[in-house]
Formats: sequence, C-alpha cells, structure tokens
Amino acid sequence: MTVQQQHPALAAADPELAALVGAEERLQAETLRLIPSENYVSAAVLEASGTVLQNKYSEGYPGRRYYEGQQNIDQVETLAIERAKALFGVDHANVQPYSGSPANLAVYLAFAKPGDTVMGMALPMGGHLTHGWGVSATGSWFRGVQYGVRQDDGLIDFDQVRDLALKERPKVIFCGGTALPRTIDFAAFGEIARESGAVLVADVAHIAGLIAGGAHPSPVGHVDVISTTTHKTLRGPRGAMLMSREEHAKALDKAIFPGLQGGPHNQTTAAIAVALREASQPSFRDYAHAVVANAKALAEALLARGFDLVSGGTDNHLILIDLTSRQVPGKIAAKALDRAGIVVNYNTVPYDPRKPFDPSGIRIGTPSLTSRGLTPDHMPEVAEWIDRAVTAAGTGDEDTLAAVRAEVAALMAAYPAPGGAGARCVPGLTHRRAGIGSHT
Ligand SMILES: Cc1ncc(COP(=O)(O)O)c(C=O)c1O
Repeated sequence: MTVQQQHPALAAADPELAALVGAEERLQAETLRLIPSENYVSAAVLEASGTVLQNKYSEGYPGRRYYEGQQNIDQVETLAIERAKALFGVDHANVQPYSGSPANLAVYLAFAKPGDTVMGMALPMGGHLTHGWGVSATGSWFRGVQYGVRQDDGLIDFDQVRDLALKERPKVIFCGGTALPRTIDFAAFGEIARESGAVLVADVAHIAGLIAGGAHPSPVGHVDVISTTTHKTLRGPRGAMLMSREEHAKALDKAIFPGLQGGPHNQTTAAIAVALREASQPSFRDYAHAVVANAKALAEALLARGFDLVSGGTDNHLILIDLTSRQVPGKIAAKALDRAGIVVNYNTVPYDPRKPFDPSGIRIGTPSLTSRGLTPDHMPEVAEWIDRAVTAAGTGDEDTLAAVRAEVAALMAAYPAPGGAGARCVPGLTHRRAGIGSHT
C-alpha cells in the first residue's frame, strides 16, 4: 500500500511530510527494533490518537471543566481512568500527564518544595533523569541524593538505599528506572520509605505492560504513587499516568492541573483508554510473558557468545550489554548495528569509566520484536546478528553489516509491523492492513 493510499489527505496536503511518514513506516517495518522503551501500537490505538478529539480543550477533570461542550470528552477520560484503576488495581488514576517526565515533575510538585531533598537511582546506574539527576530540573530545583547498584553483581544495594534514606531523610524516593534488567523489589523499597518517612514513587514506565500482564510483580500495596508512561511495554500512545491510593488523589490531580499543565490531550487520553482495554485482554498476558521469555532467551544466546551482561542476565524485557571486553565502545557498536538494521541505543553501564555520550554499553529489549510475533526460537539468530555486527563495528567491515541488514529485512518481512501495516495476528494486537509494499 502506498503512502497516498494509506494517508490520502496528508499526501495531498503535504507530500513532503507524507513521504517522511512513509519512510518511517518502512524503516520500522524493515528493521529489528531493540530499543526497550519502544514498541508498536495497534491499529486501534493509532486510530484513536488521530481523531477529532484533537480539536477540544478540556482544562479540569470530568464533571469539573473550565470549558463547555465536554459531553463526550468527560466520558472518554472517565473510561480511561476506570480502565486504569481496574487494570492496575488502584484507587485513583490521573491520565492527563503529557508524558513521563511531566508526570514525575508533578509528583515532586505534590509532595516536595524547591530545595527539599529527594532520592532516586543515579542515571548512570540505570535511573531516569527525572529521579533527581543534576542536569534535570528535578536535580537542580531539589537536592537530589542518589543510590546505585553493587559493582560486583549489578543489583540494587538495599543497605546503601536504607542508609542513605535514613541519613538524608528525603521527602520523595523514586524506585524504578530506564536500564534495570532485574525485578524491582517494591516491598524492600516500601519498608525503607516507611522507616525514613518518605513518599515512595514506583516509576514503572518500562515495565507497566509486564505488570499489567502479570509478568512482573505489582508495586500496589508497597508504594504511595505509581508513575508510568503509556508508550513502552504497555503499548499505548505517547503519554503517562499517575496512580495512587485515594489519600493522594487530590494532591496529584492538583499538581497535574492547574499545577503543571493546561488542557489534556484528549486524543491521547482516548488512545490510552484503547490501550488499557487491549492490556486487559487475556492475550495481553500472553504478550507480557512472551516479552520476558524472548528477553531471557536472547540473554542466554548472548551469554553463549561471550557477551558480558550487566547483572548476568535479565528478569524482564531489558538487557544491558557491557562491551568493554569486546573493545568496541557502545556508540560505535550502536551506530554499526543501526547500519545492520538493528536499532539499539548506546548506554552507560554501572561504574562506567567512559563518558555518558560515549559509554561502554548498549541497551536492548524485546517489547517490539515480540509485538511482531518473534519467539524464543528466533533469539539465537538475533544474538548471532548482534555478534557479527559488533565484531564488524570493530573492524570496519561494512560488507558484513550490509549482509546482516539484508538477513534482518528478510526475517522482518515475514513478521509485518502491527498498527501501520501488519497482517499477522500477534497476541493482544489488532491489525489493519497487509503488506508494507512500496511507498512512493
Ligand atoms: C523510567 C522512566 N521514567 C520516565 C521517563 C520519561 O518519559 P518521557 O520520555 O515520556 O518524558 C522514561 C522515559 O524513558 C523512563 O524510562
């Protein structure tokens, strides 16, 4: 199907932009996308996010708006809220955060004052910028203190977390992160937060889909607030949610609006509602468990090829590879893999002697390839491609990179991308059209 057939109004109004959309669809179809924070949304989520809900202003909350004409929007937002509450088993959900970073900023606004001490995992250890890291507003407007993982096993050092929390008495503690390959012990964090008097926030952006699908323990009952993006393993649109017990509902709602944001993006709220409905289906449980099974199989295959994995493997969707022993820096490897049709990101590894913009590792994950229907049987081949490409990166062997790219494209052609052009029935995903074909 051509881009003109797929997006006729766009192609007519702005052929230049339409061509770029077509090119991106092709790129997403032909490559093996291993960035663990990315995914493919279903056709239904994609359609919901491109509706006339885009045209409506709705400052406030259902039943309490500053604009009239909310007959339908109130119902859309209420659907999303009720589905989030049911799926995650929480008292309260706010579905308005524009994305994960503003959601986290709203948490600080709700529970801390500028200059207060806040605590989170250090960015180079696997935390997120918004967990109090210095270059982020959260680390300059607040006093960020940071914990990490142990150097010998790459696991969170709970003695360090407890000592730091009792010494620094932070107002807010964040657990969760962006490069954590292991299960998060929410109960252990909960005990420390209660002992130190902090509000505990689980930032489950990466693992929300795994939690929803029962493939990772839930933080409910252990933490005060749950923050999540909706566009990673949860397989929704780019957005975020804050969830909590009833006692924190007012503070969080006030922090999002009017504290931090204006009108909610109603088209995104609608797409979140659709994604939450999809995530409540039995087939999404299959998807979540398949993501983890693929990651474990890929980790095993990489270990068998001599790769060093931070913490020795994975419990979830994510694998952090330390390339030090391969003598190929992460950035050079990531760029070579990209030329080979395998899309990853370069990443620091804990205690990385190299700089964040030129670190020692790469971060990979299995949410996207699982959405396309790949299984553990494919993972030895994926590991072989990574191995060949990393070796070729070190020797400048562009022929090998081109050969891998062709092999990747051949496999991916048999597993069409969901949403834009998929034909294959993948657990928990609705598909729209068959065959990517040529876009002109
Ligand atoms: C754990 C975590 N929190 C927050 C965010 C921020 O989300 P966004 O990029 O939507 O602002 C991310 C994104 O990578 C993340 O991984």
